[in-house]
Amino acid sequence: MTRTHRGALSRGWMWGLLLCGALGCSGTDEGGGGSDAGTDLGPDELPCDVKAVVAERCAYCHTTPLKGSAPMALLARSDFQRASSVNALQSVGQRSLERLGSAAAPMPPKSEPSLPDAQRAVLTAWLESGMPAGTCGSLPAGPAPTTCSSGSFWSEASGTGASMAPGHACRNCHLQQAPSMAYFFMGTVYPTLHEADGCDPRLASPSEVKVEILDSQGQTRLTLTPNSAGNFMSNSLQPSFPLPYRVRLVGADGRSREMSTLQTNGDCNTCHTEQGASNAPGRIALP
Ligand code: HEC
Ligand code: HEC
Ligand code: HEC
Repeated sequence: MTRTHRGALSRGWMWGLLLCGALGCSGTDEGGGGSDAGTDLGPDELPCDVKAVVAERCAYCHTTPLKGSAPMALLARSDFQRASSVNALQSVGQRSLERLGSAAAPMPPKSEPSLPDAQRAVLTAWLESGMPAGTCGSLPAGPAPTTCSSGSFWSEASGTGASMAPGHACRNCHLQQAPSMAYFFMGTVYPTLHEADGCDPRLASPSEVKVEILDSQGQTRLTLTPNSAGNFMSNSLQPSFPLPYRVRLVGADGRSREMSTLQTNGDCNTCHTEQGASNAPGRIALP
């Protein structure tokens, strides 16, 4: 790679940072929780099995700052004991039990992989027995720890190309530095939600993963496949159908995860950052 290219890239990283500052990429921070004034909530510890299920299935939205439009955090036993803001006569725990059993409006929402039976049984039993205190403490408030599952990072020394800069906002930079390759839909699929910028995704079977781009009517308009680096991109500079769009991410095992919010910006990684910006829960992560 030449000196000029390196210089150009570095300017790109700075440009990305500036853009983030201007658009406010730091996520939302509305307050969560209901009223519990005067109630003795008792020990805040969750049972270990309950904590593990909540961490994996609920807390990536119900966290602080809140993500994916979730209305309150679910990190501690007291979060479940509080009065619900939907129905003050019920606790958040009782509401959770109802939503776990709801076909029309389940939690986790329909956009997510459904709760496996064993995990459903753990949560249901705990909620039905009045949410007894456990010994495993509560989940940490955000921001979530950043990881790199593969342990491997892309470096500028490997040059520009389809494997470059995983996790970074591709199109933003291409519009500046490589406009003839500023494809409309570009992004990176990761194995988990909070992977560091530049971390190589190293997906197990990238060719079996599908990023389906749907139009506002729910019709699949484009199916993209991540390359061996986890990056995916469309081949046209403008979308081939009228925006806005939605996304369904289908994993190699056939499970899926959907973005139901309609979007008009195809540069996925601008919102799907390490911590998630503009209400996104984090990376585009396999279901
Ligand atoms: C993908 C993000 C996401 C995940 C994962 C998720 N939720 Fe939610 N949750 C939401 C959103 C958005 C709302 C508000 C809209 C609604 O009520 O459907 C909500 C609302 C709720 C409410 C309050 C609404 C009511 O009916 O009282 C409860 C309770 C709840 N979720 C429990 C859970 C539990 C328990 C889990 C895990 C088993 C979970 N959620 C997983 C996004 C999520
Ligand atoms: C900081 C700027 C920057 C970022 C971020 C960036 N690129 Fe690039 N990309 C470039 C430059 C510069 C080139 C080289 C253009 C040239 O060769 O003239 C390039 C070239 C490419 C090419 C063309 C390779 C070829 O020779 O045909 C692809 C494909 C590509 N990038 C994909 C991506 C993807 C996918 C992402 C996001 C995960 C990304 N890029 C992020 C700057 C960037
Ligand atoms: C302007 C910000 C923004 C852009 C750009 C964006 N997303 Fe999202 N994405 C979100 C938000 C907010 C959510 C959570 C709410 C929802 O699921 O609709 C989300 C959720 C998702 C989910 C579900 C994640 C989960 O854990 O529930 C997937 C998959 C996804 N997006 C894929 C994509 C892809 C692929 C692109 C690019 C083609 C993209 N997104 C572009 C904001 C964005």
